[in-house]
Amino acid sequence: MLISGGSGFIGSHLTERLLARGDQVTVVDNLSTGGRANLPQFHERLRFIEADLKDALGAFGKGERFEEIYHLAAAVGVKLVIADPIKSIETNIEQTSAILRFATVRSADGGPVPTLIASSSEVYGKSAKNPFNEDDDVVYGPTTFTRWSYACTKAVDEYLALAYRARHALPVVVARFFNTVGPRQVGEYGMVVPRFVEAALADKPIDVYGDGTQSRCFCDVRDVAGVLPTLLATPPCYGRIFNLGSDRAMTIRELADLVIRTLGSSSQIRLVPYSQAYIAGFEDLLQRRPDLARVRQAVGFEAKIPIEQTIRDMAAWMKNGNGV
Ligand SMILES: NC(=O)c1ccc[n+]([C@@H]2O[C@H](COP(=O)([O-])OP(=O)(O)OC[C@H]3O[C@@H](n4cnc5c(N)ncnc54)[C@H](O)[C@@H]3O)[C@@H](O)[C@H]2O)c1
Repeated sequence: MLISGGSGFIGSHLTERLLARGDQVTVVDNLSTGGRANLPQFHERLRFIEADLKDALGAFGKGERFEEIYHLAAAVGVKLVIADPIKSIETNIEQTSAILRFATVRSADGGPVPTLIASSSEVYGKSAKNPFNEDDDVVYGPTTFTRWSYACTKAVDEYLALAYRARHALPVVVARFFNTVGPRQVGEYGMVVPRFVEAALADKPIDVYGDGTQSRCFCDVRDVAGVLPTLLATPPCYGRIFNLGSDRAMTIRELADLVIRTLGSSSQIRLVPYSQAYIAGFEDLLQRRPDLARVRQAVGFEAKIPIEQTIRDMAAWMKNGNGV
């Protein structure tokens, strides 16, 4: 099995799953946002390659074959894209293009390899629909707002994946992750839950952007990582796009209260205008909730881990000297 971005947040949980299943796992990660410490230092069935994905793919010998490919490497999140737009845009499109080309001829018999492409709920852009269905129209702001480039790169990745399905019969599955949370997620790229947990542990103010009434659905990373191999092992899923996450919505203000309560913190909530949090003119979405009918019907997916448990596990991970 090949996992790009396998030492990142979601990738490391997936790597753990596949190792536990008894697989031989190759992780390629340039450690730009991932951490080597997210993976076992030594495991006899784990090969870790620190490299840019494109370079690693080019360096693999002709005989290098894989049973499954999971492509999670990306410049992740709106904050990173705003900070370094050229690198982020290029990373998200070029690496996906390279791995799809690679996947067409790398099975044991030289044919296509079942491949999962990580996409994002950001693809829906600022559509006002609730919940988001995989077949809905997407709505973006103008290209002068870098914020939308993350959504567009992920949309291009999806077009590429579907084109490889159509042209090369690649057994490809696209997973649109909604807010995925849990241990090993770091807050420095603007991820809201680790940022809140870190502040709560230190009894520091919790910064809520805007008025805090925007809502999100949070899903534990272990629920998400657990279903990815199932999607890839289910041929009717090939050539399809799946929302993946939880459909239980909570406002960011409620999340801040819940983090404080769950961790017994004395933190106060501080409202921060978007202009201070990102850049002037930043548009946040009021809600982002997935329609999960398709993934439920296809593989019986159901998020099981309660958010309070996720918050406690993240706090325990941070207290062990990890994190932001
Ligand atoms: N966490 C979420 O809520 C969420 C939501 C939507 C989509 N996603 C998608 O899921 C995937 C994994 O995200 P994550 O949250 O685990 O973030 P992450 O930053 O922890 O993982 C990305 C990994 O890719 C690696 N990487 C980046 N560029 C690379 C390159 N050129 N070559 C090799 N490795 C490279 C990073 O070092 C990191 O380990 C991404 O594709 C992301 O867009 C995540």
